[in-house]
Amino acid sequence: MKPFERLFDFSGKRALITGAASGIGEAMARAFAAQGAHVILADRDREALRKVASDLAPSSQSHPFDQADLASIEALAAAAGEVDILVNNAGIVVRAPLLDLDWADLRRMVDVNLVGPVALTRLVGAAMVRRRSGTIINIGSQMAFNGARHRSVYSSTKVAISQFTKTAALEWGPHGIRVNCIAPGRTITALNAALLADPAEYETGLQRIPLQRYGEPADMANVALFLASEAAAYITGHTVVVDGGWILE
Ligand SMILES: NC(=O)c1ccc[n+]([C@@H]2O[C@H](COP(=O)([O-])OP(=O)(O)OC[C@H]3O[C@@H](n4cnc5c(N)ncnc54)[C@H](O)[C@@H]3O)[C@@H](O)[C@H]2O)c1
Repeated sequence: MKPFERLFDFSGKRALITGAASGIGEAMARAFAAQGAHVILADRDREALRKVASDLAPSSQSHPFDQADLASIEALAAAAGEVDILVNNAGIVVRAPLLDLDWADLRRMVDVNLVGPVALTRLVGAAMVRRRSGTIINIGSQMAFNGARHRSVYSSTKVAISQFTKTAALEWGPHGIRVNCIAPGRTITALNAALLADPAEYETGLQRIPLQRYGEPADMANVALFLASEAAAYITGHTVVVDGGWILE
């Protein structure tokens, strides 16, 4: 175990973060880089990806990819090389009443939020298992804990990613791999821009949160640092809800 003052020092570690061009993933990329990691940034938004990567140079590399496409995921895993920390963060939401949800949107949410992270975890995790070293953090959602109006499929993918976390932790624990999940509450990012721009939605949401503020991407990044660090050496298979208390009621 590292001495206390070096628990959050990630020097010499390689962290692969998906969805790193924006919001929570970008904050995580910046946080891991600030703590000494070499960050491998992956996203489908090439322009935004380039900008974050250049801010973090020289301790970064970037790979455009589409988490809905298996060939693209395989190419990312091959290009990333050895990975110590994998953060499966990229995700999408399409809000619609169940009967109005478009079939293509439904399939895409399942592909991006569930099938893609599972595929990437298998590819990157295989090498971790061989080396008997590594840790994985999935990004779920508070929406996995309650019924979620107009997010039937989105919330289902997030329940599934928490469950996948448990099983991967169970299977790979004996190989020295920890797998955990962060379930963010409503966080101020592009994903929520339309929702947060609606004054009625903004107020109603805020009233549900005991800590009386929406989450910041840095709130999630700090927990990712903790879960990836040796401070969390005995935590695996867990979903940490980071929501200011939203799900308590
Ligand atoms: N913002 C919230 O309130 C909130 C709450 C709970 C969970 N989450 C989860 O947090 C994660 C990050 O979301 P965010 O709020 O930072 O959103 P965001 O939209 O700011 O960032 C998501 C990133 O993922 C990338 N991405 C989307 N689809 C992709 C694909 N097919 N291939 C590769 N990259 C893709 C986007 O280009 C973007 O850069 C998501 O999994 C989301 O479900 C967010």
